[in-house]
Amino acid sequence: MADRRTSSPNDLRAFWMPFTANRQFKKAPRMLVAASGMYYTSADGRQVLDGTAGLWCCNAGHCRPRITRAIQEQAATLDYAPAFQMGHPLAFELANRLIDIAPDNMSHVFFTNSGSESVETALKIAIAYHRMRGEGSRTRLIGRERGYHGVNFGGISVGGIVANRRVFGHLLPGVDHLPHTHLPELNAFTRGQPEHGAHLADELERIVALHGADTIAAVIVEPMAGSTGVLLPPKGYLQRLREICTRHGILLIFDEVITGFGRLGAPFASQFYGVEPDLITCAKGLTSGVIPMGAVMTTDAVHDAFMTGPEHMIELFHGYTYSGNPIAAAAGIATLETYAEEGLLTRAAELAPYWEDALHALKGLPHVIDIRNQGLIGAIELEPIKGAPTKRAFTAFIDAYEKGLMIRTTGDIIALSPPLIIDKAQIDELFGILGDVLRGLE
Ligand SMILES: Cc1ncc(COP(=O)(O)O)c(C=O)c1O
Repeated sequence: MADRRTSSPNDLRAFWMPFTANRQFKKAPRMLVAASGMYYTSADGRQVLDGTAGLWCCNAGHCRPRITRAIQEQAATLDYAPAFQMGHPLAFELANRLIDIAPDNMSHVFFTNSGSESVETALKIAIAYHRMRGEGSRTRLIGRERGYHGVNFGGISVGGIVANRRVFGHLLPGVDHLPHTHLPELNAFTRGQPEHGAHLADELERIVALHGADTIAAVIVEPMAGSTGVLLPPKGYLQRLREICTRHGILLIFDEVITGFGRLGAPFASQFYGVEPDLITCAKGLTSGVIPMGAVMTTDAVHDAFMTGPEHMIELFHGYTYSGNPIAAAAGIATLETYAEEGLLTRAAELAPYWEDALHALKGLPHVIDIRNQGLIGAIELEPIKGAPTKRAFTAFIDAYEKGLMIRTTGDIIALSPPLIIDKAQIDELFGILGDVLRGLE
């Protein structure tokens, strides 16, 4: 009998694939059957260089022995333990280890199973926090245009990617949006943080003046917007947001689902940019993508606001069956150990200059209208084909895959975010293939 794990199935109808052109995919499927280190193996037996760390998540690379072993051993020791009114040691240990690498002001961790759930959790904590302090009128949430905060109702309400919102009804009431920070006419081909755009944070003052600070619970932004196609914060922008939030008693949430765990060259973007939010959402790199797990980290001030009623009462009526799941916690601990052993949480900073030069060398190739980068992240924006947006980048995606490289595209933007174990020879391999792909684009 064929091995179910490595042979292609003969019927693809039942699985409704997420964020996928299902009919197109099922006519010409792209199946991955194995992975190791920096490479996937495709069903037709090819090695494919992982230029995207899966979906921005496999920061330690693939099938790393310590993580694999930890999962195997945990599954055979304590497979599941209830998360409500019961505990198990690994969840506490992982929370402590997270706080060890988190920005200094973070001191408590709430576990979830995904980035989307982390966002919902953070938004709910923010609203409830104000209520606990007797400021129950602060219910409004402020997101940002082009923001991505997962796919649940809170996340798409504060999110700003139109296609993710348009067909899903009214969403949450009482939400407003900051403008996005993409200013290509001023900032195109900037290396690292752009010079122009810090003033866009001042739009928060306008929103405060419009609604009243006493109605606003929180502002949520990605410190570096990933899914929309890599938009870096202009110099000084995050600092200004922080100042305005503090001035008006508004909580600042950094959604670090992509930027967490070393992507920019520090454990979190908060440390990289030197701005401390009140809550941080994370997921993805927490377990190097191997097991679904997310977390919300917060400060003593936020946490302690809930610790006031009678001690026998539940303080926060929120949680998931799998919050702090033992196997996920074991994977998380093994992942943090792998990061620490191999210096991966700061490796992006060491490789960034080499990465940046290799990426910006693509300037001048056909249709390339902007290139952006920070840490081990890169984006190449292509001129859309007239009347057929997204088609040019999708063609590049297919061609790259056929040539042995996995990239990710959003609209007509190519995004790159390789595992943090990538070496210089593999960076050369990546940009060698991508250069060929771009040169061949119509
Ligand atoms: C900033 C951000 N927040 C939230 C999410 C949602 O995470 P998940 O897909 O694990 O629900 C993502 C996913 O890419 C993300 O980039």
